[in-house]
Amino acid sequence: MSVVGVTLALVAYTVYDEDLSPQSPEQSQVTLARVMEVMDANNLGNVHGGVIMRAVDTTAGTCATRQCGGPAVTAFMDEMAFLEPVRIGDILTTMASVNWTGRTSLEVGVRVEAQRYGEVQPTHVGSAYLVFVAIADDGTPRRVRPIAPETDVDMRRFREAEIRRESRLARRTAIRKFRAIR
Ligand SMILES: CC(C)(COP(=O)(O)OP(=O)(O)OC[C@H]1O[C@@H](n2cnc3c(N)ncnc32)[C@H](O)[C@@H]1OP(=O)(O)O)[C@@H](O)C(=O)NCCC(=O)NCCS
Repeated sequence: MSVVGVTLALVAYTVYDEDLSPQSPEQSQVTLARVMEVMDANNLGNVHGGVIMRAVDTTAGTCATRQCGGPAVTAFMDEMAFLEPVRIGDILTTMASVNWTGRTSLEVGVRVEAQRYGEVQPTHVGSAYLVFVAIADDGTPRRVRPIAPETDVDMRRFREAEIRRESRLARRTAIRKFRAIR
């Protein structure tokens, strides 16, 4: 079978894990790391924000997929803080963990660190929060396996994610109302 044939076969056959029993956030956590190269940076040697966002999206998407037991699409990436510059030669590490789950959506938080050449302690260079929606073969939302927060940190992240969700939904409602009366 050709490469295209194999790819099409994989796309056409999606395996779902239908188990909806709650699991701790630890079970779907994902960490990815990559050395930053010249092609990742601008002329000053600083890594482009888009390169970091791509790493964030890939790590968070992998974490969401593990939680959902099937495909999940990025629905919102509405909070991304760039705290310190990342430079060529740094090892960029992205760590993703599920903060909150709803019926078909979930929020994933990502911590971004850079290990500078010659330094022992990694530097916290960014944080992001993304919402994913689990989808079925026809692209419609499907049920997400719930998380069961266990530690104090899990509980804090769950509650803070609820606060962010409330403000996302309130913003959407306010914009819809504004458009309706314009
Ligand atoms: C994401 C997508 C599947 C949602 O479809 P939809 O028909 O709008 O879905 P719904 O309105 O039923 O909402 C699905 C979930 O998103 C949540 N949601 C919707 N709008 C939201 C908002 N503004 N903020 C937070 N959550 C929101 C809903 O509450 C629901 O979650 P819940 O079931 O846990 O309560 C659809 O918009 C899509 O396919 N988008 C393109 C995704 C994509 O291509 N991403 C990039 C590549 S991966």
